[in-house]
Amino acid sequence: MLELDHITKTHDESRQGEVLDMLPTGKSQGRKLYIESYGCQMNFSDSEIVASILLDKGFETTKDYKQADVIFINTCSIRENAEQRVRNRLKEFESAKAKNPGLIVGVLGCMAERLKAKFLEEEKLVDVVVGPDAYRDLPNLIDKADDGTKAVNVLLSREETYADISPVRLNSNGISAFISIMRGCDNMCSFCVVPFTRGRERSRDAYSIVQEARDLFNKGYREVTLLGQNVDSYKFTPAQQEGQEPKATINFAELLARVADVSPELRVRFSTSHPKDITDEVLYTMAKYENICNYIHLPVQSGNSRVLELMNRTYDRPWYIDRVEAIRRIIPECGISTDVITGFCTETEEEHQETLSMMDYVKYDFAYMFAYSERPGTLAAKRFEDDVPELVKKRRLTEVVNKQQEHSLFRQQNFVGKVHKVLIEGFSKRSDLDYCGRNDQNTMVVFPIDARFKPGEYVHVLAERCTSATLMGRIID
Ligand code: SAH
Ligand code: SF4
Ligand code: F3S
Repeated sequence: MLELDHITKTHDESRQGEVLDMLPTGKSQGRKLYIESYGCQMNFSDSEIVASILLDKGFETTKDYKQADVIFINTCSIRENAEQRVRNRLKEFESAKAKNPGLIVGVLGCMAERLKAKFLEEEKLVDVVVGPDAYRDLPNLIDKADDGTKAVNVLLSREETYADISPVRLNSNGISAFISIMRGCDNMCSFCVVPFTRGRERSRDAYSIVQEARDLFNKGYREVTLLGQNVDSYKFTPAQQEGQEPKATINFAELLARVADVSPELRVRFSTSHPKDITDEVLYTMAKYENICNYIHLPVQSGNSRVLELMNRTYDRPWYIDRVEAIRRIIPECGISTDVITGFCTETEEEHQETLSMMDYVKYDFAYMFAYSERPGTLAAKRFEDDVPELVKKRRLTEVVNKQQEHSLFRQQNFVGKVHKVLIEGFSKRSDLDYCGRNDQNTMVVFPIDARFKPGEYVHVLAERCTSATLMGRIID
């Protein structure tokens, strides 16, 4: 999930500081809310829930924090530099606060959960600290802050999924949307802060997910991405009605099928898959439905079994290879992307080479790549020494990035000369004369506008040229 924003919109915590936009006007008092989101798509999706809760209370939104009565920053803790970015941003809000002492500054999300009330001591301008499971309490916390009391709610919940809240789509192109299907994470990858900031894993009611997909489709959306830290462990048991047989549990494969059944015109994507949990049943479901996109984000983290064990990923190299083989067998055209961490505690040069050889084996379509960053409170921070020198981590990262660059180009070159079904998302970032959209495998495709087609429609595009991230071509129907 490195600086690869040109490659994917899903699961991309390199997105930063995005400001909400295109929000419908609030219905009452008209106090102005400004919200900025950092981190993964779960956070962006949560900001849409926060906006919904506050719009219901009469807030309006602004794209200019200098106009705001309330500034919220929805934060990420995944690596140290993610937190640093937020702290730097908070400094920039100081002058706004000095000009308008009534201004409320709130910190939401994972950093709020990690630091809790300590945040109030560390960053004096912060008035409100709210963890990811406490957003329903926001109106009340803002009231408190209005009365001059600093307010904190970082309670994690075993049940909260915000299933009944209809997210206000922010920065939306009106064509693709994210649907959160679960929250939290029960895996304990030793490097990872998420289980601490997001709490226990829980799955959202399957009916509310399908309903949300249906509503989006009826509003003109043509692509949904189902979001969770580990979607393959999705599990929902419908409540038993009195006098009736208990209903069967809905797993991820079944959920995918139900969402895909909303309409063959609705593309379905998902993120993130965990190598230990992804089943052949999910792969067969993907193969069966034309509208479930042939693309899987399957983070490997390391190609070496000893490092994977230290990371507590609960799979080893042969297991990961077996899953890739299953994907290639069942869905031959499937795009595969990954996450890699370089320089995890005690990683040797030979073990790093195994990550490179795994990359050579899979030839990922793209990858998010990171140098290991120790996070306070995680198992790795408690058990292992962060002993790979920073320069070595960075050098290994460069090697991984360079290799990925080659593989991305290789994958794109394989797409050239072929016809791709593309969902038009809008104008290309670079030119108003071009449209852009993604193919099935999630690669961005750019092609000249054809007046017969508009955003939200599918077209067939012949890919004629490529870079390592983008295909260029022309519509052929
Ligand atoms: N649930 C997803 C990952 C979410 S975090 C999964 O299990 O794959 C996104 C990515 O950030 C991880 O896959 C990992 O590559 C990276 N990451 C997480 N913690 C990190 C850390 N402490 N240092 C460096 N990278 C980290
Ligand atoms: Fe973190 Fe592992 Fe959970 Fe992913 S699966 S969020 S890496 S603990
Ligand atoms: Fe996401 Fe960052 Fe939290 S990656 S879950 S916002 S720590």
